[in-house]
Amino acid sequence: MPHDQALGRVRLVGAGPGAADLLTVRAVQAVASAGALLYDALVSEEVLALAPAACPKIQTGKRAGRASMKQETINRLMLRLARRGLTVVRLKGGDPSIFGRVGEEIHFLRSHGVEVEVVPGVTAACAAAAQFQFPLTNRRTARRVVFTTARVEDGALIGDWRVAADPEATAAIYMGGSSLGAIAQHLIAAGRSPATPVAIIESAGSPKATLAAATLSSCRDFTHAGEGGPILVIVGDVAAGATEATYQDSAWREPDALKG
Ligand SMILES: C[S@@+](CC[C@H](N)C(=O)[O-])C[C@H]1O[C@@H](n2cnc3c(N)ncnc32)[C@H](O)[C@@H]1O
Repeated sequence: MPHDQALGRVRLVGAGPGAADLLTVRAVQAVASAGALLYDALVSEEVLALAPAACPKIQTGKRAGRASMKQETINRLMLRLARRGLTVVRLKGGDPSIFGRVGEEIHFLRSHGVEVEVVPGVTAACAAAAQFQFPLTNRRTARRVVFTTARVEDGALIGDWRVAADPEATAAIYMGGSSLGAIAQHLIAAGRSPATPVAIIESAGSPKATLAAATLSSCRDFTHAGEGGPILVIVGDVAAGATEATYQDSAWREPDALKG
């Protein structure tokens, strides 16, 4: 369908793990020039503060068990705002293409003739690896990275864990903090060694990030007593290299070009 010139457009922007200095320059420019902003629960105040004061800012996701806006409602809202001629910025934590429903949103908007742009961001796994100074790949021990998520249905972890159990893969497990024990059991049952190192990283990329080191075996009975931040689980030999967090303070300062 050809794009309607009277329509605004939607920019699906990766907000990274929280610190504003981990945004891409393009993401900073998008937020700073937004006509309307829709943002997910994991987007930080620091990043939201880059938006123009007059720009409406609508939260679409809530944490701590509170209900998020339905995907259909978010889609309709983006469309309505774009039809007013606005440049809509949809800010998503991390990278929009990783567990960010970006495919559904692109499809919906394009099928309604709205121009869409995607701006990448730093995904949680990369932020965690950088902050705790370990690689996600290693030419001898970690030849693949598997981005996966823990899906729980009726209280039970589901899915096929064979790919993440590959001994040459690093598994970056999103949304798995509350299912650690079950994840460990599934990976061991699928053939991964119980001695495989595990890094449990909370609030990666922020000054309050924490690291808990474990093995698959010890994870079976592990309950992560965290601070309520988002949790990423890294499974694989590379996780043994996770060390003290670096860059505790955000060094980001507003560039002169964006001032005034
Ligand atoms: C819906 S997914 C979105 C992932 C996001 N698009 C990304 O690329 O990081 C949300 C999950 O990502 C992980 N996550 C996001 N930000 C994180 C952070 N700063 N530290 C640790 N894990 C994070 C957590 O597992 C969280 O439950």
